[in-house]
Amino acid sequence: MSELPAAEKPEYAFIGRSNVGKSSLINMLTGQKSLAKTSATPGKTQLINHFLINQAWYVVDLPGYGYAKVSKKMRDEWEKLMRNYFGKRENLVCTLLLIDSRLEPQKNDLDFANFLGELGAPFVLVFTKSDKLGASTVQKNVALFKKEMEKHWDDLPPIYLTSSETKKGREELLSFVQQCNAEYAKQLKEGLS
Ligand code: GTP
Ligand code: MG
Repeated sequence: MSELPAAEKPEYAFIGRSNVGKSSLINMLTGQKSLAKTSATPGKTQLINHFLINQAWYVVDLPGYGYAKVSKKMRDEWEKLMRNYFGKRENLVCTLLLIDSRLEPQKNDLDFANFLGELGAPFVLVFTKSDKLGASTVQKNVALFKKEMEKHWDDLPPIYLTSSETKKGREELLSFVQQCNAEYAKQLKEGLS
């Protein structure tokens, strides 16, 4: 944690299962093909990676969860890091929790949503790889995920459907970030005055 950049600009964390498409989404949103390293093999991203965008805000690429070939020790270390990061990072404005739109609700995704909720960390749900299956399957999986969340949550977070291949969801997510950045600047100003 002590090695992270100074908490001076609004920041957005990308988290989700290994291979869900975090690094690809970062590249799609920023329009830079190989900013974040991607791989067909899960477990590519191993550290907390900060990318400064337009000198104004940070995108944070995180190592994913649910990768089977990880030792107990590494998993414990990852959990400690996540607890510190999501619980303490002052400039973390919002987390993008990525969910694979091809799958029915997965326990580790629901657990992570609850984990963020317990820490009081705001998040949105971003369904990835929507180009891979038909729209009706995606809609069905989104609906099932919402239904599962409703068991524990009164209010559901905003939901975005995306594809890093077709750039679906790009405008919507960027305009969400822009709104949050404006709000962050406003609050900072009010706090200072
Ligand atoms: P880790 O860093 O290992 O946790 O994975 P990650 O979540 O960063 O996934 P990454 O972006 O590396 O993508 C994993 C694989 O999924 C790569 O082969 C990508 O090309 C593919 N992929 C990611 N997003 C999409 C998408 O929207 N559509 C399709 N068709 N493939 C995608
Ligand atoms: Mg990655």
